[in-house]
Amino acid sequence: MIVQSVRWVGGVDGHLELIDQRKLPGELVTIRCRSVEQLHEAIRTLAVRGAPAIGVAAGYGLVLGLQSVADRAGPQAALKALADACEYLAGSRPTAVNLFWALRRVRDKTEQTAAAGANVGELRQTVLAEANAIYHEDVEMCRRIGANGERFITDGMGVLTHCNAGALATAGQGTALLVLFEAHKKGKRFRVYADETRPLLQGARLTAWELKQAGIDVTVICDNMAGWLMKQGKVNAVITGADRIAANGDTANKIGTYSLSILAREHRIPFYVAAPSSTFDLSIRSGADIPIEQRSAEEVVRPCGMAMPMVPDGVGVYNPAFDVTEARDITAIITERGVIERPNAERIVKHLSSS
Ligand code: MRU
Repeated sequence: MIVQSVRWVGGVDGHLELIDQRKLPGELVTIRCRSVEQLHEAIRTLAVRGAPAIGVAAGYGLVLGLQSVADRAGPQAALKALADACEYLAGSRPTAVNLFWALRRVRDKTEQTAAAGANVGELRQTVLAEANAIYHEDVEMCRRIGANGERFITDGMGVLTHCNAGALATAGQGTALLVLFEAHKKGKRFRVYADETRPLLQGARLTAWELKQAGIDVTVICDNMAGWLMKQGKVNAVITGADRIAANGDTANKIGTYSLSILAREHRIPFYVAAPSSTFDLSIRSGADIPIEQRSAEEVVRPCGMAMPMVPDGVGVYNPAFDVTEARDITAIITERGVIERPNAERIVKHLSSS
C-alpha cells in the first residue's frame, strides 16, 4: 500500500490534504487544510509530523498564505503576505530544520520572481511550483536513500528503529523505513524492533502500522527494553531518521535516540541515520546549537488523551521532544547522494557538494 501523508489537491486555489497521524492506527482518515492557521495547528499537534513531511507541508502552506491576496493588491502585498505566512509557520515547531529550509526556499524563489516583474497571479504560480518541486524532490530523495542503505540490512538481522521515519514522515515512502522496505523487497529476511517512542508513541502507532502493511516482521518494545535486547544479541543494527544534522554530524532526532546511540556503542552495534540533504543545517557547528522543542506536560500525564492521569496531580513533568546523538556514535549517515561513513565536518561538506 502506498501511503501518501501529504497531498496538494487542485491548483493555486486548492487545499492541502494530510493523513491525520493523531488518529492512527485506530483510524486512517485525512484532514483538509485551507488556511495557514489550520496548517500551523496540524503541525503543532502532530497531525502531520516527521521532518521531511513538515517541510513539504510548509511549502504548500505558503500557497494557502497567498490565497487571500487579491490580484489588484499588487506584488508587494503578496510578498508581505508570504513573509507573514513564513514567520507564522516557522513558529509551529522549532527542531526539524526542513520546516525552515522549505519556507526559505519558496520565499527566495518567489522574491526572485517578483524582482523580475511578476504579478500576483504569477507569484502564486511560482509558490505552487516550488512547493511541488520540494514534494517531488523529497519523493526521489527517499527512493535513493532506500537504494543506498539497503545493503546495511542482511539476512537474519534484528534491526531496532525509533520513532517513525517512514512514509508518514515524508512525501515519499520514508527514510530509515525505506531502507527496510528496500531490503524486504530484495527478499532479505530480518526482524524489526520498533521502540514504542514515548510519550506520543510514534513507534508503536505509526512505524508498526507501516511495517505491518509492508509485510515486514515487526515487534514493538517499550523504550526501556532496548538495552536488554542488545545484551541478548537480538539487535544487530539501529537505524533512525533525523530532524536536524549539524555541520559536524551531531544529529537531533526523537527523544530517546541519544540513549540508543550510547547503548549501541556499548554493545558494538552499528548505528545508522537515514536523512535527505534537506535535513543538514551547515549554519550550526554542532548539536549544542540545535533548538530542542519542549512539549506540554499533558502529553506525558495523559498519553494519547488517556482518561486516567499517569502522574499524580501537582508533580512536575519535563517533556523535551528531541535529543542529540553525537557524530562519534554514528556509524554512517545514509543520504540520497550515498553514505557518509564515520561522519565529521569535512566528510559532510565533501558529501553535500558531490552530485
Ligand atoms: O515529533 P515527530 O514525530 O515529528 O518526530 C519525528 C522524528 O523524530 C523522526 O525520526 C524524524 O523527523 C525523521 S522522519 C524521516
